[in-house]
Amino acid sequence: MKVLWNDQIVDRGEVKIDMEDRGYQYGDGLYEVIRVYNGKLYMKEEHLERLRLGAEKIKLVLPFTKETLSQKLEELVAVEEITEGKLYFQITRGIDSPRNHVLPDPLNVTGVLTANVIPYDRPVEKQRKGIGVGIVPDTRWLHCDIKSLSLLGNVMALEHARSRGFEDAVQIRDGKVTEASAANFWMVKDGTMYTHPDGNLILPGITKKKLVELAGKLSIPLKEEAFDKEELFSADECFISGSLIEVVPVVKIEDHVVGSGQPGGITQKLHNEYVAEVERICN
Ligand SMILES: Cc1ncc(COP(=O)(O)O)c(C=O)c1O
Repeated sequence: MKVLWNDQIVDRGEVKIDMEDRGYQYGDGLYEVIRVYNGKLYMKEEHLERLRLGAEKIKLVLPFTKETLSQKLEELVAVEEITEGKLYFQITRGIDSPRNHVLPDPLNVTGVLTANVIPYDRPVEKQRKGIGVGIVPDTRWLHCDIKSLSLLGNVMALEHARSRGFEDAVQIRDGKVTEASAANFWMVKDGTMYTHPDGNLILPGITKKKLVELAGKLSIPLKEEAFDKEELFSADECFISGSLIEVVPVVKIEDHVVGSGQPGGITQKLHNEYVAEVERICN
């Protein structure tokens, strides 16, 4: 398998990560996951823009311009001959020796980029049948808008739910639903879609952004407003969204059946439109 390591495409085994890389030691870095459809990076510009904003927030000087990064990522997809896939890349703050909490001078330290792309198909079964989620307290930090490499909070939320037999978590902070473990969370009530507003408590999903646009196109009323557990349990439909899963219905929350127990009509309509949009853009 060929991977991207800084500006080179190399065999995976050739990559050397220093033990004092700040990404390795502190989780000090950012990542993105981009879906590849028909050999094209879907919503690449939006992902790169979120990366830029994240870098600004953590004072990370990106080692490449947007154009170079974009070109390198596309080159990797071409070299690996991936048509339907997922591209992962991360940029750490680089090697900082001796280990020191103080941010290094970006003139002395260069960020380290790694990327790989592997085949991936939409999770059709989940999309068709829906999933069950468990309620989990959102104990993550207060910078959930930053797509940080430090995912332990998300990993623990998922494990909390999975250990109780659920496929994913719905996290609740201060009484309000924030998001799933690695996806945005939505509910539909009386024909209106609701999801948590962007801010420091959730990741501003690229898929969320697209779904907001598509809801507008389909004239489905939408409120980016936080909702509580009681409202969640009164929802007619629920679903989660993310670049890889697209739209996955949530048909069970703990032992409560959502709506009819089947994926909801608005959820399906929105997902169909999402797929049609992907085809329009990537064909
Ligand atoms: C915590 C969290 N929220 C939301 C999302 C969805 O983001 P996107 O639609 O950009 O994939 C992700 C994706 O990984 C995530 O990790």
